[in-house]
Amino acid sequence: MNLQERDQKYLWHPLTQHKLHPKHLAIVKAKDALLYDEEGNTYIDGIASWYTCMYGHCNEYIINKVTAQLGKLDQVVFSGFTHPPAVEMSEKLMRILPKNQQKIFFSDNGSTSVDVAIKMALQFHFNQGEKRNKIIALEDAFHGDTFGSMSVSGLSVYNGPFEDFLLTIDRIDVPNYENFEHVKEKFSQLIATGAIAAFIFEPLVQGAAAMKMYPAELLSELIEIAQKNNVVCIADEVMTGFGKTGKYFASDFLENKPDIMCLSKSLTGGIVPMALTTCSQKIYDAFYDNEISKGFFHGHTYSANPLGCTAISAGIDLLVSKEMKANSLRIQEKHAAFNQRIHKHPKVKTTRQTGVIFALDLNIKMERYGNLRDQLFEFFMKNGVCLRPLGNTIYVLPPFITTDQELEKIYDVIEKALEMF
Ligand SMILES: Cc1ncc(COP(=O)(O)O)c(C=O)c1O
Repeated sequence: MNLQERDQKYLWHPLTQHKLHPKHLAIVKAKDALLYDEEGNTYIDGIASWYTCMYGHCNEYIINKVTAQLGKLDQVVFSGFTHPPAVEMSEKLMRILPKNQQKIFFSDNGSTSVDVAIKMALQFHFNQGEKRNKIIALEDAFHGDTFGSMSVSGLSVYNGPFEDFLLTIDRIDVPNYENFEHVKEKFSQLIATGAIAAFIFEPLVQGAAAMKMYPAELLSELIEIAQKNNVVCIADEVMTGFGKTGKYFASDFLENKPDIMCLSKSLTGGIVPMALTTCSQKIYDAFYDNEISKGFFHGHTYSANPLGCTAISAGIDLLVSKEMKANSLRIQEKHAAFNQRIHKHPKVKTTRQTGVIFALDLNIKMERYGNLRDQLFEFFMKNGVCLRPLGNTIYVLPPFITTDQELEKIYDVIEKALEMF
């Protein structure tokens, strides 16, 4: 039996109806932008394995740093203890985060970083004797699959069984130049109730909502309104963080900075799972007290795992390097040139780009996880390109080190795919 067959005996895959999709491709190796399956076929990883391996798979620089750390300190409790990788990482990260971010809290994945942010925001008010029990989130948002992050996610097609157990959320439309006055009015009215503890958003790009993009200046205006009313603003940069938008963080495009930021995915360059929730001094100060109960009693066993912290530090070294910046610009230019080639194609409805994220909507209706979408996915894979369409949206978010040749292959296969319909 090959791996694909053995997989079926015990393994339960994420976001999968196993009766309809029993087979999972076995990937046995990855290097740079390439994935290798058990039969030796290669695939260009056009989505950086869910936006994680932005510096390339099995990046030697990161691996060497993590391997060296592995021989020194593997794991230690982070409550009551600290260690060099955590301290060094914090100093490096502070150099690239928006200046108002001052404290770093650890967890293990994007969803938990959002749960931590929500709990921080709720307790921020609680500690000051204010009862605020609602959160504003955007329509079509996706923030993860734990209860807190699922509550603020608007993309809840499959959340039916849990809806009665979720937090209380008010939703506003994603702002654009047409609806902004209306959105702003609703937002201000909600805030005027005094019940809103936090406003959470994916800045600039809503990833799971098929790379929906919206203007920084409109979001910034909403943040201003929120912050004037002491509403905690949470930027979920799990997807957008670490250079994907063309700056280190999407929040760098905002005039008004968030109070809290959620980071994961390419935080460790895809080497190990880890997540951070960072916050401003103002948030931290609301927990800093002689009373123990005002502290933040949230903790994960693997908080600040030394290997994860080392991978983050190494990833930041790469992110700020001249080489990676040049690569990012190169990809942005290649995407823009591809856009010129494709945007008038009769099968293409719209295209959009932010940084190295490029997306196009087909002129064809497709279910998010329907047959047509599956056919498209299979076509890409058969042609050696790993792209996962979201409904009728095809998007490309390649590792920064993807070569021009590999990019051209991705674009060519997309163009060929348009002939399928
Ligand atoms: C913006 C955003 N937030 C949170 C998450 C959840 O992250 P994780 O899958 O690591 O729990 C995702 C995952 O795609 C995401 O895109």
